[in-house]
Amino acid sequence: MTAPSVLVVDDERTLARAIRAFLSESGYEAEVAGDAEQALRLLETMRPDVIFCDVRLPGMDGITLLRRIREFDPAIPVIIMTAHGTIEGAVEAVKLGAFDYLKKPVDLEELKLLADRARETSQLKQELSYYRRRDAARADSTAGVLGESAALRQVLDQARQIAALDETPPVLITGETGTGKGLVARTIHAASSRGAKPFIEVNCTALPATLMEAELFGHERGAFTDAKESRMGLFEAAAGGFLFLDEVGDLELPLQGKLLKAVEERTVRRVGGIRDRRIDVRILAATNRDLERETQREQFRRDLYFRLAVIILALPPLRDRGTDVLLLAEHYLKRYNAKYGKHVRQVDQRARELLLSYPWPGNVRELSHVIERAVLWSRGPALDVEHLSLATPPPTTPAPELPTAAPAAAAATPGLLTHETPTPGLPPSGVDLETWERALIEQSLRESGGNQTRAAQRLGISRDTLRYRLKKYGIQA
Ligand SMILES: Nc1ncnc2c1ncn2[C@@H]1O[C@H](COP(=O)(O)OP(=O)(O)OP(=O)(O)O)[C@@H](O)[C@H]1O
Ligand SMILES: [Mg+2]
Repeated sequence: MTAPSVLVVDDERTLARAIRAFLSESGYEAEVAGDAEQALRLLETMRPDVIFCDVRLPGMDGITLLRRIREFDPAIPVIIMTAHGTIEGAVEAVKLGAFDYLKKPVDLEELKLLADRARETSQLKQELSYYRRRDAARADSTAGVLGESAALRQVLDQARQIAALDETPPVLITGETGTGKGLVARTIHAASSRGAKPFIEVNCTALPATLMEAELFGHERGAFTDAKESRMGLFEAAAGGFLFLDEVGDLELPLQGKLLKAVEERTVRRVGGIRDRRIDVRILAATNRDLERETQREQFRRDLYFRLAVIILALPPLRDRGTDVLLLAEHYLKRYNAKYGKHVRQVDQRARELLLSYPWPGNVRELSHVIERAVLWSRGPALDVEHLSLATPPPTTPAPELPTAAPAAAAATPGLLTHETPTPGLPPSGVDLETWERALIEQSLRESGGNQTRAAQRLGISRDTLRYRLKKYGIQA
């Protein structure tokens, strides 16, 4: 438990110091700012439990500062200090959301009692809003993740168990692109006892290592040319809650070691800083790469992998979730009907069969796009195969027509890769074989995570042949 903190904004140095000394004896950590600007700067790095603020300040006055603080974080109670005669100002301040006011000359005992009361009230409020939010979150924490299949339910059960625990080692969420890793991470946060605390998401792909380090761990003033102020990093911002490291496999090697230290020791050191800060944060990470294999290729640190992968939540691909695809299709149908003012009420039989047989390399995200497009093109009340603009279903059903155009993008590749006997129907207008071949090669590479041997196996060709075709089509492996 860290000491409660107070920020005192007053340009009367002696008074401010007296307040600080008195509060320190009562177990508070107090910081002093001589004017509003300095107070706002301090707020970037600290989150005081209570702020005492003089009405009359040099530069920006106390009431304006109060407004700014309320905009910045309305949950911090602010107590306005006012000299006798300016009681109107105090009343105005309370109307503007000040917690209370305190008359000058300040009675230190009274000030401390006020600080205690403000802190208790804001804690109570926070707890209340936490319980409300938690109940709301619990009510829909699983509702947000649609699916009845055993494969998905099993993972969701695990996610719920993880959420119910107050402390766990890091959790690694794996699964192909679009399987809902981000959604599950947010669900764990919402259903946990930290639901009202921060959920900070970091995309590890976004930045080069040096910038990412400052982003994650913060920096002190002057740590590098642009560091005019010190700033907290995302670890600190997530304190008390969750930090979600998305695409963690993309983190550059130099940073992986620093991340390992932070996760292991639960401390961070800002860039250019000299002290470690202890942070209470739960770590979730996600990847669609095969990190275990990357550790063998020395693309990912083994020790970090083992640290992150104590608990793995493996999201099944959509094609392994049985009729969930229909459930999700209905869900997106409703959403896009509403969005585009359409009235597509049902999915016809052949379209359902196609949805069930298509391999969904882009998983739920792809399904969402496909339904969106289909709703846009539909005119009648039913959604049919043509609207789906997907490739052919397996030959068990009477061969329906393929969309007349060959697939423009790899996302629209046929369902060949998952079927034992690939005999797609040919559309009357024919297909562009090279386009299809190229799309299949790209898909198999994607699905094998760039492993050429496995991709070649799945295509039923030798690795040399695959290499030859990669060259022929100019595909970057
Ligand atoms: N079971 C589900 N029920 C409802 N919506 C889902 C489900 N799974 C995924 N979605 C939705 O599909 C989209 C993609 O999910 P999300 O972004 O979580 O996938 P991801 O696994 O993180 O993908 P990537 O690896 O590309 O980042 C989101 O809009 C998400 O809300
Ligand atoms: Mg994601």
